Amino acid sequence: MNTNAHTNTTADADAESTAMGRRSLLAGAAALGLGSAAFGTAAHAAGTQSRSHTKAGRFQGKSVLITGATSGIGRAAAKAFAGEGAHVGFCGRRTELGRQVEREIQDSGGEATYIEADVRVEAQVRGFVDRVASRYGGIDIAFNNAGIGGGKLPHEMSVEEWDDVQATNARGVFLAIKYEIPHMLKAQRGVIICTSSSAAEQARPQSAAYTASKRAVQGMVKSAALAYGPKGIRLNALLPGTTDTAFVRPPGTPDAAWAQYKQAWGPLNVDGLERMADAEEIARAVLGLASDDFPYMTGASITVDGGSTAGRKMIQPSGT
Ligand SMILES: NC(=O)c1ccc[n+]([C@@H]2O[C@H](COP(=O)([O-])OP(=O)(O)OC[C@H]3O[C@@H](n4cnc5c(N)ncnc54)[C@H](OP(=O)(O)O)[C@@H]3O)[C@@H](O)[C@H]2O)c1
Repeated sequence: MNTNAHTNTTADADAESTAMGRRSLLAGAAALGLGSAAFGTAAHAAGTQSRSHTKAGRFQGKSVLITGATSGIGRAAAKAFAGEGAHVGFCGRRTELGRQVEREIQDSGGEATYIEADVRVEAQVRGFVDRVASRYGGIDIAFNNAGIGGGKLPHEMSVEEWDDVQATNARGVFLAIKYEIPHMLKAQRGVIICTSSSAAEQARPQSAAYTASKRAVQGMVKSAALAYGPKGIRLNALLPGTTDTAFVRPPGTPDAAWAQYKQAWGPLNVDGLERMADAEEIARAVLGLASDDFPYMTGASITVDGGSTAGRKMIQPSGT
């Protein structure tokens, strides 16, 4: 977004046309029998929490809930939110890793609570959400991020495998939204970010289950953004490209071999930046979307993929 592109003259003209627009909106509202108070209260609050933040304390005292933060992108986001003053409640199934992330955050002076929960189990999602809300006084921001892969051709995939991908990636996000929203309705504000994937836009032969689940996340977010926008709640879907986490790194791969693989992989697979993302830079996008910097953004699908879906790597025939 280039906010410096306007000259003073055009800025003044913009201010005037905005004022005229608002006057005619109010006139229209009066004609409909609505008071001016009908404008701007709850819906506006979605993006106007504590505008005077410093970078270090953008999320000072905010209650942030994250699903799937025992590793990878969720873990990086938990640390980043806590590093900017948030109180972070997060879940995952691997208790030892959860406790470790909690300890790492606390040791660096942050506030975090790990709660073991499986996003496929309704009672556990409900318990997790309610415990975070009661511990930290509501939920200001939710990052619904837990997810699994599922790379198989449809005729080789069992129904149980298909169901597990949908139960985690799509139904898990639905359950999280279902139990987060009542807390946000109480406050008449909130921000929800759900992890979809660039694979929602760019399918692969073995990605039927995964792509379907991540498209479902986009659809849910669009619909819920319409339902809850008037209540001051914004929802957006984040579509990361391939990111260096346990999700893509085969277990046990030595660091040097992995670094060498990535170096070769980038230029072959990512038009644009020609490299894999790391979890911290995807987390930075999450914090940006959750911040006050995008108060008018809702129902959007934000791709953060180094350019891979903008292009399509192919070997050009000579002479073209
Ligand atoms: N890495 C990529 O290339 C990439 C690209 C696009 C999108 N994504 C998406 O990004 C999200 C995070 O993945 P990641 O790359 O950070 O991989 P990751 O390190 O494997 O993290 C996945 C997280 O989800 C949690 N999780 C999985 N199933 C769960 C369940 N049933 N209940 C609760 N938590 C569960 C895991 O915790 P436990 O195992 O402890 O339960 C873990 O914390 C996923 O939604 C993934 O689809 C990843």
